[in-house]
Amino acid sequence: MAIEIKSPKEIEALRVSSQMAAETLLYVGDKLQRGMTTDDIDTLVHEDTIRRGARPATLHYRGFPKSVCISINDVVCHGIPGPRVLKNGDIVNVDVTTFYGGFHGDTSATFYVGTPTKDGRKVTEVARKALEIGIAQVKEGGRLGDIGAAIQQYVESEGCSVVKDFVGHGIGRRFHEDPQVKHYGKPHTGERMKAGMVFTIEPMVNLGRFEVQIDPTDQWTVTTVDGSLSAQFEHTIAVTKNGCDVLTRRGRILRSSENIATVFA
Ligand code: MF3
Ligand code: CO
Ligand code: CO
Repeated sequence: MAIEIKSPKEIEALRVSSQMAAETLLYVGDKLQRGMTTDDIDTLVHEDTIRRGARPATLHYRGFPKSVCISINDVVCHGIPGPRVLKNGDIVNVDVTTFYGGFHGDTSATFYVGTPTKDGRKVTEVARKALEIGIAQVKEGGRLGDIGAAIQQYVESEGCSVVKDFVGHGIGRRFHEDPQVKHYGKPHTGERMKAGMVFTIEPMVNLGRFEVQIDPTDQWTVTTVDGSLSAQFEHTIAVTKNGCDVLTRRGRILRSSENIATVFA
């Protein structure tokens, strides 16, 4: 399918749903602490989303049973909230997708529970920077492959690896649209970016090898094959003439994540 070009009005609607997702993530960061279960976080996301008059897009999406994806340590993505308790040293990705006014907004971050481990900090900070490096490649006339190439180059230069089985995606009235945005690849390849395209960049970075596997029992939970830690950050981004507009950009520091990044820098 062709990549949709969103009108300025559609971009403004996407900004509203995206900012809701961003604010729900900030809310989670304020509340997150050891001893909570991932179901407790799911409840926070669900209630905050409903309070805004929005809907959690993951709930019942292709059979996904909860309002948010929560992925701890060696879980790469699509973790299902449940009775698991957050413990000191865990790294926890919370991936919020909000549906409001007919449009989606999709953003995630990795949080530290208590005091980070050296490995946890390493993979989380590489993933955080990988997303920003990808964003820096976005502008009209550039190619999608430029994004993946820049991310892969950086992540591998840090001795980590990029997950290949899951990619960023176009987003709008539908949760997942064209194009696929790979977090690896070659520069000067892939579709040309045009102003009005809206897609996510969401690199999953593994501390060890890149291979991942899906839990055969629940058919959702993705883990690293080698058991190494994995971290991820995601933004929803609109391409502009001169660069891009990060629609899920947060208005303040993300607690349990960006504040700790600074403390341990
Ligand atoms: N939010 C995820 C993404 O970034 C997708 C989750 S789909 C679900 O694309 F079904 F697992 F919720
Ligand atoms: Co996404
Ligand atoms: Co997401």
